[in-house]
Amino acid sequence: MSITLTMPEPAEVAYIHSLARKRTAGNFTGTRLVIKSDGAPVGVGLISSKDEHADVLVVSSDRNVPGLVDTALALLAERALSRSKTTAVTVHRTPDRPEDVDPGSRPLSQKEWALTQPVTVENFEEADALGVAALCHGEGWQTYADAAVAAQGCAAPGVTTVVARNSLTRTVAGFAQVLSDGIAQGYLAQLIVHPAYRRIGLARTLVEIGYDRSGAQRLDLLTDDAQDFYETFTGQAKPGYRIYPRQ
Ligand SMILES: CC(C)(COP(=O)(O)OP(=O)(O)OC[C@H]1O[C@@H](n2cnc3c(N)ncnc32)[C@H](O)[C@@H]1OP(=O)(O)O)[C@@H](O)C(=O)NCCC(=O)NCCS
Repeated sequence: MSITLTMPEPAEVAYIHSLARKRTAGNFTGTRLVIKSDGAPVGVGLISSKDEHADVLVVSSDRNVPGLVDTALALLAERALSRSKTTAVTVHRTPDRPEDVDPGSRPLSQKEWALTQPVTVENFEEADALGVAALCHGEGWQTYADAAVAAQGCAAPGVTTVVARNSLTRTVAGFAQVLSDGIAQGYLAQLIVHPAYRRIGLARTLVEIGYDRSGAQRLDLLTDDAQDFYETFTGQAKPGYRIYPRQ
């Protein structure tokens, strides 16, 4: 069973408005998304963001879908925390009555929320290509933003790609790609952690596991913005250069 969030189609707008209004007495304004289980609408997800804080709430029309509320809440929190402004999120349980909505509960910081998520680091599989492409798209990295290119590149000979998967939301929380001769040289070609999962040590874990599994003795890389992160490793900064195709 796959639970997803989608923007409402025109035909779904009335359904989600009536469901959301009925259950929250119209108190919850913000983004409304349709929650689907295997493609069929089963509820509405709401994200209300103000300044650095977001409230997320699930209004379910089908309580028989196992894991629906927890998975949808985690997906909504991921979505809310990927806004660069948002640093904290309050996750609201599905209210049975409007007054059950508890806007006063303490917001979890992005880091606290991320630490509650079931994330494991494993070798890349083809099913991860869409998630890898979405992360690249989010960073504006065009090449692997195409899932077909990501699928081929992450599994190419001499490439070790490790992904951090959230087993609840079935999303890719981060990935690292190492190119290596398997005996001495290694190049860390790509590393991204989804904004909702940052500063909990995930990138460090991805680099350590990718490095280890690549068989390389040393790892080189280029970076524009992540110098502070790489300086937490034992290593040395050296000048680098990137050659582009001849015009
Ligand atoms: C850079 C990036 C991969 C770091 O991911 P992360 O999972 O948050 O990193 P970690 O939690 O493993 O960080 C480990 C340590 O590195 C340092 N660090 C990480 N990000 C940092 C930042 N933005 N500023 C300063 N120090 C940072 C900190 O010392 C951190 O430890 P701390 O949180 O206990 O202080 C992530 O911010 C990202 O995906 N950025 C966009 C893509 C990118 O720039 N990739 C690298 C391209 S070369």
